[in-house]
Amino acid sequence: MHPRQLGPFSVSALGLGCMNLSHAYGAPVSPEQGERVLLSALDAGVTLFDTASLYGFGANEALVGRVMKPHRQKFILASKCGMQGVDRGDGKLVRVIDGRPATLRKTCEDSLRRLQTDVIDLYYLHRWDKTVPIEDSVGALSDLVQRGHIRSIGLSEVSAATLRKAHAVHPIAALQTEYSLWTRNPEIAVLKACEDLGVTFVAFSPVGRGFLCGDLIDLNALDAQDVRRTMPRFAPENYAANLKLLPAFQKLAKEVGATPSQLALAWLLNKSKTIIPIPGTTSLSHLAENLDAADLRLSPQVMAALEALINQNTVLGSRYNAQANSEVDTEVF
Ligand SMILES: NC(=O)c1ccc[n+]([C@@H]2O[C@H](COP(=O)([O-])OP(=O)(O)OC[C@H]3O[C@@H](n4cnc5c(N)ncnc54)[C@H](OP(=O)(O)O)[C@@H]3O)[C@@H](O)[C@H]2O)c1
Repeated sequence: MHPRQLGPFSVSALGLGCMNLSHAYGAPVSPEQGERVLLSALDAGVTLFDTASLYGFGANEALVGRVMKPHRQKFILASKCGMQGVDRGDGKLVRVIDGRPATLRKTCEDSLRRLQTDVIDLYYLHRWDKTVPIEDSVGALSDLVQRGHIRSIGLSEVSAATLRKAHAVHPIAALQTEYSLWTRNPEIAVLKACEDLGVTFVAFSPVGRGFLCGDLIDLNALDAQDVRRTMPRFAPENYAANLKLLPAFQKLAKEVGATPSQLALAWLLNKSKTIIPIPGTTSLSHLAENLDAADLRLSPQVMAALEALINQNTVLGSRYNAQANSEVDTEVF
């Protein structure tokens, strides 16, 4: 896989999103399957692994730490703070956004312990806590860089304006936000801000949380706890309309000799060399399929056809519900 630059690091053009192994789309995979997916990705040349203190309320970092410790020198480790599980007194953990400096310092200690490492290469602020000035949260992360606990700072789901403010406090290595054919928000301002500042853009949910793979047809198959059940574009009436976009998408994939998932990833990789997609999967065959997208070159005609087919005007339903949307920074997206 041709390398791409992520802040100060050279990494594989496709990273591995580790979230799905423990979080978001139903029950976690078995420890053995988690290990197989992580080690297969490493064997196949993936050198960027993305986790977060939130995922599985620490379980995902613990999995990555346990499996990847013997290989720590071979990959760039990215994790996140500022959104995690907090016990509200009844022993049950709830998801809380908290960007106060003391919380970020404590979360970093917990992340390092779970990840079984002395230093995290890239530590993102998972969400901007709007009750804390971004300068204060990034200032705390800058202290963690000075102390040698993390090597670089990332932000997730922030606006171009917030990115610029943060970058003035400490150079931001990467901005991670949802981006795919069916989620184009970063095109409004964030991609341009990243380009201006030399910040790498890491595209999460790059295969549209499964939609762009073409085989997620029956939403009844989703686990009762699957987060997609809360997302308006996966609501049955919207999803039924969105599925009508797939036959033409699948036809384009066939024409370029790719699968739909590969075409979705290749679209991102062909948009810019400063974009790094991090698809997530629990399946070894999907992993291999996705990684094969790295070498796919798309003509300007195919890029244009894809963009005309699947975009903000042709997709029904917003990506987040009102609660999740209130937690992201959409001031100037
Ligand atoms: N910063 C943030 O707030 C944030 C939010 C969400 C995600 N992320 C990061 O981004 C990573 C990826 O995002 P994501 O998991 O939400 O979305 P995604 O990668 O777009 O989609 C994952 C879904 O697609 C399916 N899939 C993947 N490859 C497939 C293939 N070749 N064929 C058929 N199905 C396939 C997976 O199912 P299978 O398991 O069956 O393959 C899974 O259900 C996460 O792991 C996490 O690290 C960050």
